[in-house]
Amino acid sequence: MPEANISKELKLNSDILRPLTYVVSEEEEIVIRDIREYIKHKSDVFVYRSTSGLLNYEDYESEVKEGNEKRGKEVNIIDALNKIYTSNSHDKCLTYIMLDIDVYLEGSSSTPNVTRRLKDIVLQTYRDSSALKSIIIVSSNLVVPPKLQRYIDVVYYSLPKEDAIREKAQSVLKEYNSTIEKSKDKIDTKIDTSHVSAFKGLTLFEIEQIVLSSVKSHRKLDNNVINYYKNSILKKTTLLDPMETEDISFEDVGGMEHLKTWLEVRKGMGTQESIEANVPDLKGLLLIGITGCGKSLISKAIARQWDLPLVNFNPSKIFSSRVGESENNMMKALKIVEGISPCVMLIDEIEKQFAGSQSSTFSDAGTTARVIGTFLSWYNDNKSPIFLVATCNSIEYLPPELVSRFDDKFFVNLPSLNERKSIFDIQLNKYGRDWKKTNISLQNLAEASENLTGREIEQVVKSSIHEMFYEKRTSKDKKKKGDLEERHVMKVLNEKVPVLHTMRDQIELLVKWVGWDEEKKNGIRAIYANKKEEGDDIDQMMKEILSNVDENKDGDKGNEESLKS
Ligand SMILES: Nc1ncnc2c1ncn2[C@@H]1O[C@H](COP(=O)(O)OP(=O)(O)OP(=O)(O)O)[C@@H](O)[C@H]1O
Ligand SMILES: [Mg+2]
Repeated sequence: MPEANISKELKLNSDILRPLTYVVSEEEEIVIRDIREYIKHKSDVFVYRSTSGLLNYEDYESEVKEGNEKRGKEVNIIDALNKIYTSNSHDKCLTYIMLDIDVYLEGSSSTPNVTRRLKDIVLQTYRDSSALKSIIIVSSNLVVPPKLQRYIDVVYYSLPKEDAIREKAQSVLKEYNSTIEKSKDKIDTKIDTSHVSAFKGLTLFEIEQIVLSSVKSHRKLDNNVINYYKNSILKKTTLLDPMETEDISFEDVGGMEHLKTWLEVRKGMGTQESIEANVPDLKGLLLIGITGCGKSLISKAIARQWDLPLVNFNPSKIFSSRVGESENNMMKALKIVEGISPCVMLIDEIEKQFAGSQSSTFSDAGTTARVIGTFLSWYNDNKSPIFLVATCNSIEYLPPELVSRFDDKFFVNLPSLNERKSIFDIQLNKYGRDWKKTNISLQNLAEASENLTGREIEQVVKSSIHEMFYEKRTSKDKKKKGDLEERHVMKVLNEKVPVLHTMRDQIELLVKWVGWDEEKKNGIRAIYANKKEEGDDIDQMMKEILSNVDENKDGDKGNEESLKS
């Protein structure tokens, strides 16, 4: 019996007999079973359901597991709460697990008597030390009426860990086999580590359904089936995109050598080896930079490079107009990410996701600020190996308390000459052009693409292929019937207007914010992700921008708050 699943907070609450606890979980049966396992020696357990009323645990189990219909006397919620209020524990602890009660606590449909009675019971236990009672509300929907806020402890139930996942999948497979007569038709019940990883982030109920679907359709546990269902469940319920691990590695990213080295040094998060070596946890990384220079690209490559799943987290999608629901959605989604960990969690364009936090007190009754608060306190306390990679184009609208939490901040600059060479190499290959065979000189292309971003280089490569194809279709000259040549790319390059020209102010602002420490040969507030090449065109441009800045280096080094103002 996996007692292990009962969360630390809930254990603590049961140990010190807190009068009112709210457990948020999708899996009421598992929570009830775990609580009962944990406290059966010190407490009698009762379960309230709106259909069967208040039952003792044995009757509840017999109704739920064996389908024997049981009906308690107190089906009406008020009757049930009155019964709890008047019950006498006679030195034995009484634990009441309440299901379906959230509807009575919710906004306009709330029943004042329910809130009142719950409060009465809490106060009774405070006043009367012989009243050994505790109520545990279990629901996937968190509703805490303002009147109860000070009396209720909220616990988010953890998703199943590896052992529980393995045990569940195994038992479903064995049960499936027991229904099959011919031994040659029986399926393999072996669960390997890749299956367990694929199931992470799901509830035991969901795991059971997916195992059954997979064996019915494929006669085995198939990771593609697991991932397909998992994706659709998580997208539907929490708006997380968990499986976006694209086939991108560091080789697909040109430049950013400093960042790549930083990441290579820190590889191995969450592995047994790193746990045994007592390697400190990593929190995350903030990538600040110019649009189109590969921030999102390298973020996706990290997961693949570290052999970890990637979870794409969009906080902006979880906002809800109902009071308290956004924070609840946020916590539920984060619990799933914990379930999937070790993993890389990507928050792309974080400044847009958490936009408006500064003024939200006026614009959305403080919801954004509260959601950020929920996120920050989770991020602070989280012990699961989750590496957060956040990208942004400007730090202006980011809460300073968030900016300061990252292990490191990197500035992703426009690519230097050598970096442009390698981006051309990557992009030409990506679009199926073997530049070596057609005598294209990367050096020439890189020299002609000063100030272009990686995205613009990709656009140039694509456009030049269109140009080449147009020429091939329309020209009578046989020489012009070949593949892409340097002149096609050059023609497009000559016409290209770099984004730098339209965004100069924004880029200057960023460069100035990052600053430059001549002694360390690096940025002041963020590390340059790109390797600096003395005398390069980008180097010249940075010098030019920074020469206009009168930096107070010592005063504001590391002080994020003051930097923002
Ligand atoms: N360093 C690079 N190496 C190879 N390709 C690149 C690089 N930078 C950009 N690209 C190409 O440009 C595309 C866009 O880059 P990406 O989306 O990562 O930029 P970004 O920095 O996240 O921009 P934004 O700030 O606008 O979100 C990539 O998918 C890739 O094809
Ligand atoms: Mg991006």
